[in-house]
Amino acid sequence: MGRPLALEEPPHGQARRIGIAAAGLLAAGAVAAVCAFSLVLKRGGPEAPASAPPAAPAVAVRPGGDTTVAHEHQPTLLKPAANLDDEQKARFYAGKALATQPWVRAPTRTDARDGLGPLYNAHSCLTCHVKGGRGQTTKSESEPAVATLVRVSLPGKDAHGGPIPDPIYGAQIQPRSTSLAHQLADRAGAEQYRGDGPVAEADTRIRWKVQPFTYPDGASIELRAPEVVLSNLGYGDIDPHARTGLRHAPSLAGIGLLELVSQADIDARVDPDDRDGDGISGRINVVWDPEVAAMRPGRFGLKANQPSVRVQVAAAFAGDMGISSALFPEQPCTSAQPRCNEEPTGNDAEGHEISAELLDLVVFFNMSMGVPERRKPDHPLVERGREVFGQIGCESCHTPHLRTGSDPRYPHLSDQDIAPFTDLLLHDMGEGLADGREDYEATGSEWRTAPLWAVGLAQNIDAEVGFLHDGRARTLEEAVLWHGGEAASSRDGFARLNVGDRRAVLAFLRSL
Ligand code: HEC
Ligand code: HEC
Repeated sequence: MGRPLALEEPPHGQARRIGIAAAGLLAAGAVAAVCAFSLVLKRGGPEAPASAPPAAPAVAVRPGGDTTVAHEHQPTLLKPAANLDDEQKARFYAGKALATQPWVRAPTRTDARDGLGPLYNAHSCLTCHVKGGRGQTTKSESEPAVATLVRVSLPGKDAHGGPIPDPIYGAQIQPRSTSLAHQLADRAGAEQYRGDGPVAEADTRIRWKVQPFTYPDGASIELRAPEVVLSNLGYGDIDPHARTGLRHAPSLAGIGLLELVSQADIDARVDPDDRDGDGISGRINVVWDPEVAAMRPGRFGLKANQPSVRVQVAAAFAGDMGISSALFPEQPCTSAQPRCNEEPTGNDAEGHEISAELLDLVVFFNMSMGVPERRKPDHPLVERGREVFGQIGCESCHTPHLRTGSDPRYPHLSDQDIAPFTDLLLHDMGEGLADGREDYEATGSEWRTAPLWAVGLAQNIDAEVGFLHDGRARTLEEAVLWHGGEAASSRDGFARLNVGDRRAVLAFLRSL
């Protein structure tokens, strides 16, 4: 285990360090040895004080450092970081309004928020990122998938090594159009507006295929895997070579803090050839950054295909809402969609639908939500879960502790000890989770380690949320059982636990 690990203070850290070493043994099948090993060490090494109870380190309770906000009865992630001053709060709320209120079709008199579409997925950011959290998944094929996007690309790479968009449908299926005919849908009179705007690209739905998972102890649970169903294609068949990939809206918790983690700290965890032999590699994506017109390490997006929060947010405005900016000046129309190209735009004097100034407000809002404090971190079941989480190797990717660097633009995010539970690296998660669609350096089966902070609040924020990159997991337990590839031995470690320890791990996740 040559890889540097972020450790918390002893005596907790002491036990954990061993726990991780033990996970390596577990992978090798030496289960009995593990138990004996961790028992001996839990009695405490030389540094462990004899009597003091093991106090949870501050970062374990306040995962977002000074940005951490108190837990509320009706949870939401839309609270400003606890350490914002009044001027920053004003910017936060201005950005929040731009992310919450619906954008509208151009032209209007309120021209600050027009320019939606003409083809789009949703009319506001928070339609998909519910209360700043993850998106709602679907139960059956009868519901349209809104917070789960369908990306499309042809085999091969574009000039920068990124995916090649489909020549007719572009990089993403936009199931909605600003045309009145589409907006009125099945209502009486809709027919007379046909041709009033471009037709929508397709209906995007998901067919769930159910499969059982049986634990070694005989308990069983139902898992579901998605199949993309595109119907009512507005512009003819999709290229038969096109690949599709589903992307479910993730939580926005703590992304400003993640932006401030230094690249050197992330690089230190990279192990592409698995030199330390723990079965876990961890790679960095390298992606095109339109802001600096250069290739840069990717950090945001589910395959780490975006270099910064600002580029990610501008890409969301362009791709998901059809709002152009200096970073993405195009309308969401391909040359095969002339009616889309003829629609009026919401352009300002500079020729963009959102100005750099307003974009910056939305970026500031995204970066400055407070991370919720943990609930009941000292509960014995949660503490047991925390310990087992380390022992079965979950921490090899879900890094418990990082520190942010400093950035004069974001004093409130600077120099913070944080507990995001991600290494921000790509990992091969196996065939079960693969979509077979490359994105820059990321292969079809690689995904960025999902941050786990606030994951335990997700279902309190909204009961219909889905976990994992395509929203397939309806519970945290399902999410863990889908782990494969580099995480297979860790998943097996979880499956082999007795039911009490499985519950403890899930209780720990719910406390995050
Ligand atoms: C139609 C649903 C939808 C809408 C609308 C939407 N998003 Fe997203 N968002 C997603 C999906 C899906 C992803 C993951 C994309 C990927 O990995 O390629 C994502 C990713 C993100 C991320 C990266 C999070 C991370 O952990 O890396 C940020 C930040 C973000 N969105 C902000 C926004 C903002 C701001 C808006 C409004 C301008 C917005 N989104 C609108 C679905 C949506
Ligand atoms: C090899 C690295 C790796 C290991 C080991 C690992 N994970 Fe993960 N984890 C990931 C990645 C990558 C994802 C995102 C996968 C996806 O979206 O398809 C993820 C996603 C999750 C999620 C879903 C989060 C969300 O926002 O949807 C949970 C919960 C989770 N992991 C818990 C665990 C637990 C518990 C363990 C130990 C049993 C574990 N993980 C071990 C890499 C890992």
